Amino acid sequence: MNTMEDKATAAATGASATERFRTDKSGATDTPPERVSMLAREVLDAVHDVIRRHQVTYPEYDALKAWLIQVGADGEWPLFLDVFVEHVVEEVANAAREGSKGTIEGPFYAPGAPRLGADATLPMREGEKGTPLVFHGQVRSVDGQALGGATVDIWHCDDDGYYAQFAPGLPEWNLRGRITADGDGRFWIRTIQPAPYQIPTDGATGALIRAANWHAWRPAHLHMKVSAPGYQVITTQLYFPGDPHNDDDIAMAVKPELMLDPRPAADGRGADVEYDYVLDPA
Ligand code: DHB
Ligand code: FE
Repeated sequence: MNTMEDKATAAATGASATERFRTDKSGATDTPPERVSMLAREVLDAVHDVIRRHQVTYPEYDALKAWLIQVGADGEWPLFLDVFVEHVVEEVANAAREGSKGTIEGPFYAPGAPRLGADATLPMREGEKGTPLVFHGQVRSVDGQALGGATVDIWHCDDDGYYAQFAPGLPEWNLRGRITADGDGRFWIRTIQPAPYQIPTDGATGALIRAANWHAWRPAHLHMKVSAPGYQVITTQLYFPGDPHNDDDIAMAVKPELMLDPRPAADGRGADVEYDYVLDPA
């Protein structure tokens, strides 16, 4: 249902994600003209091929133009690209890694989250809704060395599927933090379980999803960047067993290695889950 609240959220999400991208990643590269030419040529060839094979009409071409214009107007390019394209870029970028599996960053990372100690509670509202989760583990190198002082930069949505800084009304760093592991690379993160996430349905990306009769869901997930000096940072996500969208994530970012195995917490409140990271040398 498109309530007014949904509308406000989608508009704010697109604008915030576009602003974030422009601030953090200029997109400028020194890609040589021969490579630009080859990549642009082959993308255009692929488009031409689809038009010929499916006998695309003028009304369909104009619908595409109108839609592309709207994606920009809604500020939804970061959302659209990260949901439908980034997973293959990540696959190519991380193909040679021996350590932990990566997956997409998505549009909602915010650098500079509060620094927290090895036994951390993420910033959250008084009485934050959701199932309590204690997530703990160890950061090691591919040759098995504990990486003391490693950083786990974690972010996730709340129990309503909203990310701080991208949906209105949430405290700036809600459910975001940079945890410094202890001398043995170990960390404990107290938070709440994130809800499944639905791509905003009232923007241009939502319009495509509806027009194609797809669904707009990503399974519940934790995002993180794990780093240590001298090692490659890994950007990844972790997922919860039993989520109905683990097998049909719209962003195609789920991998079997990224599935958690939560256990009931010892104190009977919520879940406890362990996951270790393995970093490749830089
Ligand atoms: C999108 C949102 C996410 O939370 C995510 O992890 C990946 C993509 C998106 O809206 O594009
Ligand atoms: Fe996400």
